[in-house]
Amino acid sequence: MKKITLFLIVLAVSLSNKAETFMSPDKNFKMEFLMNATGEPVYSLTYKEKTVIQPSKLGLVLKNAPALLSGFSILKTESSTFDQTWKPVWGEVSDIRNNYNELLVVLEQKAEQRTIKIRFRLFNDGLGFRYEFDKQPNLNYFQITDECTQFALTGDHKTFWIPGDYDTNEYFYTISKLSEVDASKVNGNGIGTHGFFAKNGVQTPLLMKTTEGLYISIFEAALVDYPAMQLLIDQKNFILTSALVPDAVGTKAYMQTPQHTPWRTIIVSDKAADLLASKTILNLNEPSKIADPGFIHPQKFIGIWWGMHVPNHWSWNYADAPNIRLKDTDWNALTPLPQHGAKTENVKRYIDFAAANGISSVLVEGWNVGWEDWAGNWKEEVFDFVTPYPDFDVKAIHEYAASKGVKIIMHHETSASVTNYERHIDKAIEFMKTNGYDAVKTGYVGWIIPRGEHHDGQWMVNHYIRVAEKMAENRIMLDAHEPVRPTGLSRTYPNWMACEAARGNEYNAWSVGNPPEHETILPFTRLMGGPMDYTPGIFEIKMSHYQPGNKCQVHTTLAKQLALYITMYSPLQMAADLPENYEKHMDAFQFIKDVAVDWDDTKYLEAEPGDYITMARKAKGTSDWFVGAITDENARTAIIPFKFLDDKQWYIATIYGDAANADWKENPMAYQIQKVLVSSKTVLKQKLAPGGGAAISLKKAGKEEMKGLKKI
Ligand code: NOJ
Ligand code: CA
Repeated sequence: MKKITLFLIVLAVSLSNKAETFMSPDKNFKMEFLMNATGEPVYSLTYKEKTVIQPSKLGLVLKNAPALLSGFSILKTESSTFDQTWKPVWGEVSDIRNNYNELLVVLEQKAEQRTIKIRFRLFNDGLGFRYEFDKQPNLNYFQITDECTQFALTGDHKTFWIPGDYDTNEYFYTISKLSEVDASKVNGNGIGTHGFFAKNGVQTPLLMKTTEGLYISIFEAALVDYPAMQLLIDQKNFILTSALVPDAVGTKAYMQTPQHTPWRTIIVSDKAADLLASKTILNLNEPSKIADPGFIHPQKFIGIWWGMHVPNHWSWNYADAPNIRLKDTDWNALTPLPQHGAKTENVKRYIDFAAANGISSVLVEGWNVGWEDWAGNWKEEVFDFVTPYPDFDVKAIHEYAASKGVKIIMHHETSASVTNYERHIDKAIEFMKTNGYDAVKTGYVGWIIPRGEHHDGQWMVNHYIRVAEKMAENRIMLDAHEPVRPTGLSRTYPNWMACEAARGNEYNAWSVGNPPEHETILPFTRLMGGPMDYTPGIFEIKMSHYQPGNKCQVHTTLAKQLALYITMYSPLQMAADLPENYEKHMDAFQFIKDVAVDWDDTKYLEAEPGDYITMARKAKGTSDWFVGAITDENARTAIIPFKFLDDKQWYIATIYGDAANADWKENPMAYQIQKVLVSSKTVLKQKLAPGGGAAISLKKAGKEEMKGLKKI
């Protein structure tokens, strides 16, 4: 990691109860901190002189102990400034500037003889702050029953929300005013866990747009040893209050000093695209703990996977057996189902396709015993993660994959039986090492065991990190499905490359699906915390292809599926469809073969949450650029200025766009591919169909290659 600049200057130490104000380095943000008459800590925030957060209280309620809410006075304050540029192991850009002004406030609660600290950091795109608790005689161990952090907004903003829920984020977004939020009206997510808690409860990251045109995102960074923060909306006064996910006995967090909470963040811009560029969440996380990240390599993968999600194709389970116990089942005695997906011959076919097309890895799900009754029974001993089904030949597959230069991605579905996973994880890792696996996809479908714990509570938050650390120690890359949503921890654990933690493409295979606007919202919400394994690249759009009469379908055009490789960033990017579907459209598949997964630079060209996004990215270590443009259910023309290209140079642009008559519903698979020459002066007007998109690859053109191509 190259440090370009680093300043740490203590500017002032003051001792008074008067309001403290400080500004962001570019002076666009101003924050004020004061103690009110009853000694409650209060902060407020403005952006370009517009109020973003009105005076809002801070504090915590404890179990069997006086609250940390009032009776405080300021013991001292310290100001400092920080400016450092760091290089992520992988990412959307190669250099990240971390530049903020900091105000640390030490508060004394005289009556209880306790102190707490609140640390504020103002960046050029927003604010982060957290509570810190030093070790002291009257504050050693304590339990938090409520965190009362307020975000008092200026009005009834338009908001893009999913219901507050302790166990899942797999919802599509509702766009409404804050006063109209009713989380009880949103249907469950369809995978059986639904920890809804209040009509006015919503999840973070919460995106809002004010009538003045400000975009506001409220979220958290570096969620470690603490439950996730959701929000309760006061629908009359527009005050949001933190709502922490409880544990099995109703407590929110168990603290032992010295300890601190995660950062609470408020990112603000008057341009939607700037929100997408924000690196504040990453900057608030600790630097990488992985000394030698050489094993971490961004990659594309295919999988024995979509075949289980589409109708009438494959199964995870080997046999039809609704009640099995791992330890006394003779697998060879069961009658195998013809549709079992993870058979040696299927895996070999996928390895061949990967090898022939430059795809690094093949994910295989349903290879290990236990899938016969894996979900819905809240069963503890559900998988052992090391015993293959009789038709999955571990050694032969390992050797075949190695001979073709392909890796197999391990799958650890835990069925949310986390106690069971933790009992088996060392052996499971040993199995991976013996058999040549260097990446794992974990999964947490169902209700958590220990029973009563939630996916987003403190216990599980710590579990996901334990797994990331263990995998890092063993030089294994990690992609977690159904975890708590990421909060920038991929900076600290760059082997934790992707998470699901939102409603992915799979919903399109077996449910009402994801509305066409879904992918125009996710980058502004869920992806603020880190990459998503959205599983793009579905070419066979309608499920009636597999089962006549089936009404499910992907809610995009084929071209939009290609554009998602740019707009939905992940360093682990799946080509999710079946090889046989790609083989019918190898001209379009070329984009998936070519597209990079790690970038030197990203330009956010135009964006409006819920409507459209256009981005350009420069592939790491090359001069190649890729552009992705997506729209919601409305057709539009994306305006793409190629200003980012090198001057005085023609580039071959291969444009994978919607055909003139394409439409996500009626005619989703109609695409057209054209090759033209563009330069930094070109402004392309690219038509996007309803629910459509376009993907463009740009390569510097040699003299010979330019022949016959039209310049635009
Ligand atoms: C849900 C995951 O999101 C999906 O990708 C996986 O195939 C199933 N669980 C089974 O583990
Ligand atoms: Ca899922």
